[in-house]
Amino acid sequence: MTTAKLASLMARGTDFLGCETAILCGAMSWVSERNLVAAISNAGGFGVIACGAMTPELLDAEIAATKALTDRPFGVNLITMHPQLFDLIDICARHDVGHVVLAGGLPPKGSIEAIKQKGARLICFAPALSLAKKLVRSGVDALVVEGMEAGGHIGPVSTSVLAQEILPDMAGQVPVFVAGGIGRGEAIAAYLEMGAAGVQLGTRFACATESIAHPNFKKAFFRASARDAVASVQIDARLPVIPVRALKNAGTESFTAKQREVANLLDSGTIEMMEAQLQIEHYWAGALRRAVIDGDVEGGSLMAGQSVGMVTKEEPVAAIIAQLMEEAAQALARRTA
Ligand SMILES: Cc1cc2nc3c(=O)[nH]c(=O)nc-3n(C[C@H](O)[C@H](O)[C@H](O)COP(=O)(O)O)c2cc1C
Repeated sequence: MTTAKLASLMARGTDFLGCETAILCGAMSWVSERNLVAAISNAGGFGVIACGAMTPELLDAEIAATKALTDRPFGVNLITMHPQLFDLIDICARHDVGHVVLAGGLPPKGSIEAIKQKGARLICFAPALSLAKKLVRSGVDALVVEGMEAGGHIGPVSTSVLAQEILPDMAGQVPVFVAGGIGRGEAIAAYLEMGAAGVQLGTRFACATESIAHPNFKKAFFRASARDAVASVQIDARLPVIPVRALKNAGTESFTAKQREVANLLDSGTIEMMEAQLQIEHYWAGALRRAVIDGDVEGGSLMAGQSVGMVTKEEPVAAIIAQLMEEAAQALARRTA
């Protein structure tokens, strides 16, 4: 009965994604590769490959390898500022990827048409109600509303406020998935009742058994509490950097030094603003790789959301999804009792 209620609240999301549970594992650079993505989709959720800075050739190989591990649907997350965005879109089309997620700002001219022309459904991040409306008018098929509790690059507004602002207007138009700070099923039930079609989690899945993240990276997550996952600070008003939420470590300090270095290059006229921002993004990609792949938990970037305190042990993806669904179903049962 309660499971039926949960399934009915998730029905729009599962129909849209083509999976059993409307739980997406948000793309995490270096972490969301073939193994984790296939495990999520095989467990009934929706895995998303993080393309990040991959070349079209690497993305081609990653999609093929993921397909070898699962015959269920999964998506690909592309970053709008990737210099070969349109080649990456072509690779997705060649593999008949059903869902493309565009992250990192508004879709560049022609990208929405290119993605949809090849038959894929397009999911975009909506950081405010006005932008949510604009994205849907331009043909976006579904939205992710992600609050500042999340791990990785974040906006300034919390998940609870964004959900209240955006769901009442947009949930009737397109499926909306809520992300940021979700660690338990009770929160999933609440957002579904508010009109969400499903949810997206990252932090909760980063240390799953199937995740290739280095054991040191996973240990740092298990030890951390919510207050350790802090947002980076912008040190120079002339250099706007998108804040990144990560566990506090020596790398947090070295980001301050990196900003100073880039600000000086801007001042001396050695580089333009575009290049300055690209250097900052490359810094993050390199620092995240050092932590996730090499296990450098001091100097690397341990991107994590505030829900990290609810990540206490290594568990298979299927167990995590089963627990989230059970908690959500029980929360709904308590409402009707
Ligand atoms: C280690 C890490 C790396 C991430 N990398 C990306 C990324 O490359 N692209 C992206 O769109 N989101 C990225 N995210 C955000 C996730 O896709 C997801 O939306 C977020 O983790 C959800 O919030 P939560 O961490 O509170 O569950 C990353 C998050 C983490 C924790």
